[in-house]
Amino acid sequence: MEPIPQTGVGKKVCIVGASGKLGRYMVRHALDRGYEVVGVCREKSVHKLDEFAGRITVHGARTDDRAAIERAVDGCDAVLSVLVPWGVHDYASGTAKAVMDFAEPGARLVFSCGWHISRDGEDKYKRGIKAAVAFAKLMKITRLVDIADQYRATDMIFNSDTRWTVVRGSDLEEGESQGLPVWSRHVGDPVLESNLTRRTDFALFMVAAIEDESLVREAPAINGRLTPSALAHAAEAA
Ligand SMILES: NC(=O)c1ccc[n+]([C@@H]2O[C@H](COP(=O)([O-])OP(=O)(O)OC[C@H]3O[C@@H](n4cnc5c(N)ncnc54)[C@H](OP(=O)(O)O)[C@@H]3O)[C@@H](O)[C@H]2O)c1
Repeated sequence: MEPIPQTGVGKKVCIVGASGKLGRYMVRHALDRGYEVVGVCREKSVHKLDEFAGRITVHGARTDDRAAIERAVDGCDAVLSVLVPWGVHDYASGTAKAVMDFAEPGARLVFSCGWHISRDGEDKYKRGIKAAVAFAKLMKITRLVDIADQYRATDMIFNSDTRWTVVRGSDLEEGESQGLPVWSRHVGDPVLESNLTRRTDFALFMVAAIEDESLVREAPAINGRLTPSALAHAAEAA
């Protein structure tokens, strides 16, 4: 196995939403690369980070808690945030706003969401994704999910002059890493056709984006690098 590049030595990263599945993969990748890691997650979920005890600092708070975010991002070179549209109280947009308001000037800000988010309206969605979004919109009546909040959050990010990247995840699956996912600017581009990424590789992309200047102010839609459409694209390019 190739040695993991120690790109994070001497740098501090804050992971907002660290206790979720994606969050914990990001913590692992960041530690593997030598970053000092600070995590934020709901108080009741702090125990999910027990495996990292002694290796990371954890702030137990809702991720839209402005005071907690202000403390957590202090001195951080980068902030990686999991945007989720839970509840009807602007959780995703409150989280994004707090991160952008309090992150250090010039910090790399990397946010996660799904393919359904479009930066410029040029994405071409298949019927399945359209139906899932329509269903998610209806879910607001349950007061459990407000997908419009994720749109508000990402619009706010797209219009900011921070050094952001919004990583748009395909459908996800568990499993061993296949390496850094491929990406494209628009859903509908042939390389993305397979629509499947390993969750650990979604996290890998988020962490690698910290050091990738070409991703600043981009909203890459990602797909697993060993999926049929990614392999076909690589063969064509070769
Ligand atoms: N699932 C997919 O197939 C899929 C596809 C494309 C993109 N994505 C994107 O991938 C990212 C991670 O998604 P994931 O599905 O893999 O989930 P995940 O990593 O498990 O993250 C879920 C997050 O939501 C939090 N959460 C759960 N219930 C909550 C509540 N009631 N109130 C507040 N926070 C709550 C969790 O915090 P606790 O640990 O405190 O519960 C955790 O931080 C998201 O940005 C999502 O938009 C997901």
